[in-house]
Amino acid sequence: MLNVALPKGRLGEKVYDMFEKAGYECPSIKETNRKLIFENEAKGVRYFWVKPSDVSIYVERGAADIGVAGKDILLEYEPSVYELLDLGVGKCRMCVAGKKDFFDDGKKVLRVATKFGNIAADYYTKLGRDIDIIKLNGSIELAPILGLSDVIVDIVETGSTLRENNLEVKSVILPISARLIANEASFKFKCSEIENVVRAMKVQVSAND
Ligand code: PRP
Repeated sequence: MLNVALPKGRLGEKVYDMFEKAGYECPSIKETNRKLIFENEAKGVRYFWVKPSDVSIYVERGAADIGVAGKDILLEYEPSVYELLDLGVGKCRMCVAGKKDFFDDGKKVLRVATKFGNIAADYYTKLGRDIDIIKLNGSIELAPILGLSDVIVDIVETGSTLRENNLEVKSVILPISARLIANEASFKFKCSEIENVVRAMKVQVSAND
């Protein structure tokens, strides 16, 4: 049985559709209920719905053999997992954003609000810019509006959250997308099963292009 951690939510549903088309269907997952685990014994696959930022924890510790995690999470937490495939979905950008009239003149320590403290620290270290990281857990866009920070480092997908709050992208740090990841031991011991999944998912990635 291959244990697969899927990120709960819209991205997870899209990714499950790819697994389904790849031949790893599990019809019970589409029933509307509060269940978290779904199994198709015949196909040798068991799916779990996991909070997106927790997928890499389940995979790193072997509670799941494989899973789907955003590149943002992999860069931020650097879990010891194998990154097997860019699934080409969940595409967005990690950006610095701020109020339209804010310009960083470099004179003061820059106050940066973010969920991604390590990514932000890395980015500004490379620029040689001193920053003060303000770690938040959500609604990051509020920080510059209320004067809690000068800028934010956050994910921008459609850009509508920024637009509707009169903020703008100041710079793009890197592109993000969902990745298929594997537990290191599972990759050894369930090598052929995992390789079959990767092969079948590659076909789905190309079909989506
Ligand atoms: C994410 C991100 C932005 C928003 C960007 O937040 O932190 O706020 O999506 O998407 P957009 O460019 O399409 O508007 P999420 O919905 O995960 O909620 P959060 O505020 O709890 O982080």
